[in-house]
Amino acid sequence: MCGIVGYIGKEDAVSVLLSGLAKLEYRGYDSAGISIYREGIQTIKSKGRLAVLADKIKEEKFTSSYMGIGHTRWATHGAPNDCNSHPHNSQNGKISVVHNGIIENYMELKGFLESEGYNFLSETDTEVVAQLFEHLYNGNPIETLSKVIQKIRGAYALGIICQDQPDKLFAVRKDSPLLVGLKENGNFIASDIPALLEYTREYYLLDDNEIAVLTRDNVELFDLDGKKIKKDIFHVTWDIDAAEKGGYDYFMMKEIMEQPEALRKTISPRLTKEGEIELDLKSITQEEIKNCKRIHIVACGSAYHAGIVGRYVMEEVARIPVEVDIASEFRYRNPILQKEELCIIVSQSGETADTLAALREAKRQGLKVLSIVNVVGSSIARESDDVLYTWAGPEIAVATTKGYTTQLSMMYLIGLYFAKVRGTVSQTLLNECISELRQLPEKTGKILEQDKIIETLAKKYAHSEDVFILGRGSDYGAAMEASLKLKEISYIHSEAYAAGELKHGTISLIEEGTLVIAIATQERLFEKLVSNTKEVKARGARVIAIAIEGNVQIEDVADEVIYLPKANSLFTASYNVLPMQLFGYYTAVARDCDVDKPRNLAKSVTVE
Ligand code: M6R
Repeated sequence: MCGIVGYIGKEDAVSVLLSGLAKLEYRGYDSAGISIYREGIQTIKSKGRLAVLADKIKEEKFTSSYMGIGHTRWATHGAPNDCNSHPHNSQNGKISVVHNGIIENYMELKGFLESEGYNFLSETDTEVVAQLFEHLYNGNPIETLSKVIQKIRGAYALGIICQDQPDKLFAVRKDSPLLVGLKENGNFIASDIPALLEYTREYYLLDDNEIAVLTRDNVELFDLDGKKIKKDIFHVTWDIDAAEKGGYDYFMMKEIMEQPEALRKTISPRLTKEGEIELDLKSITQEEIKNCKRIHIVACGSAYHAGIVGRYVMEEVARIPVEVDIASEFRYRNPILQKEELCIIVSQSGETADTLAALREAKRQGLKVLSIVNVVGSSIARESDDVLYTWAGPEIAVATTKGYTTQLSMMYLIGLYFAKVRGTVSQTLLNECISELRQLPEKTGKILEQDKIIETLAKKYAHSEDVFILGRGSDYGAAMEASLKLKEISYIHSEAYAAGELKHGTISLIEEGTLVIAIATQERLFEKLVSNTKEVKARGARVIAIAIEGNVQIEDVADEVIYLPKANSLFTASYNVLPMQLFGYYTAVARDCDVDKPRNLAKSVTVE
């Protein structure tokens, strides 16, 4: 949801800003802009992808500088056009601001500022920050910024330059990500690490309402009272290749193919030589796990789907009732949370605004929060009582793949660990499951070798207008994720259905040629799924089935079958989603869609 970069130092600021923004385009890509300091503030911005801005910069011979701020936008307030693009400048042109987040009380502040004689050019909430800064400016930017923060409500990551302070860049955040990159002869701000990885591996991770003041060779941090803050430097260990395409056409394909390795990194450190699961929880005790009465899994999008599968796993093995909630609903429905319950928060980015708010609600009501997060040091990770990292590495494509499957692997690890602690599972089943977990990376690799078969299938069905994806049990969770993958990147309308529910209404939509994908990998429910497939086939559907090797009866009812290796049914949701990721990918390519940057979307949803 918008990417921010800022730089002050010896390098050419325009180049640093453009290269940083290019790495952040996954966060939003409907318009972009930069402001630099050169005998005053100069701003250039344009609607469209970053490449349009880069051309404009060349055409207009936009001069270079030692300091600037840049932005790539995902529109919230006002259409994506040149005027609404960031940066936004104050009326006297002396303050320039980039912003990620939403200023909730901007209408009220705008009304006030208009009554004070300020004219607004854009429809954005951000312009209010620039004008308010000008209005409150008293020559001391830290004091002014502190006053601005006390007047605005909502979420923000802000990068600011002031004409009167040509040797300083200012930044602050609340509920939107922002970090400070540190280097000799230059310092940076950015929404995410990949933007700065080619320059530095040393960062300050800003906490809410910490003000950063950057100069060429120093960074100081202050609280809202202007007191200096000391902070540890966060050192990034992954290398730059992890954030590059590495020869693939799209990040999404690279990330699909990285899944075996991502799963290995997530699972192996949690399995001991003796065949035990070790989660290394710091806050949640074994006593609390034993006495746990209910688990609330809360997340958005694909992470929510991982929660749906997690419910089947945890209820089955740990025998704890599990509720799964969409974070944006959970936070506002006044959920009933009781003592001896646990909240599990799932988020790849660790910055999703609704998920973060749900975490806070759970904590407010006295629950301990265990989070499953990919981005180290993100807000959700920092605010949780315990965090289990999915070591998937940076995920750049908007459509999650390795982020999702590593979340699933954490669901198994948590479910089985809780089962062991609670004594709800036999040692034989536990050993069988742990052995399956160990094989997960390798089997994942084997399934991904079917790449070309799926590509052929995707090309054949790429013209479909509606696709229904059916499953039962945890296959239903997988169907939800498969459906989201297809619609978000290929723009084909698709619905996931619990197979038993179809004839309660939706089957009326099946007609000659409608594509139905039947996920039939639950051993116990296989026959039921075959019957449901017959029902749609009888109404003219074309059927692609996903089944386990050996279950050849499916060939009598399906037009095409994708087989998966034999596996314990608890784990098949990890396998059957893989051909569906590939199917979504190749369908999008066949339809000439921009796979990594689907329309209207952004990777990290830091607004409500
Ligand atoms: O970063 P998060 O896991 O919190 O993101 C949640 C959703 O926005 C995300 O899973 C989204 O649905 C995916 N991009 C879908 O592929």
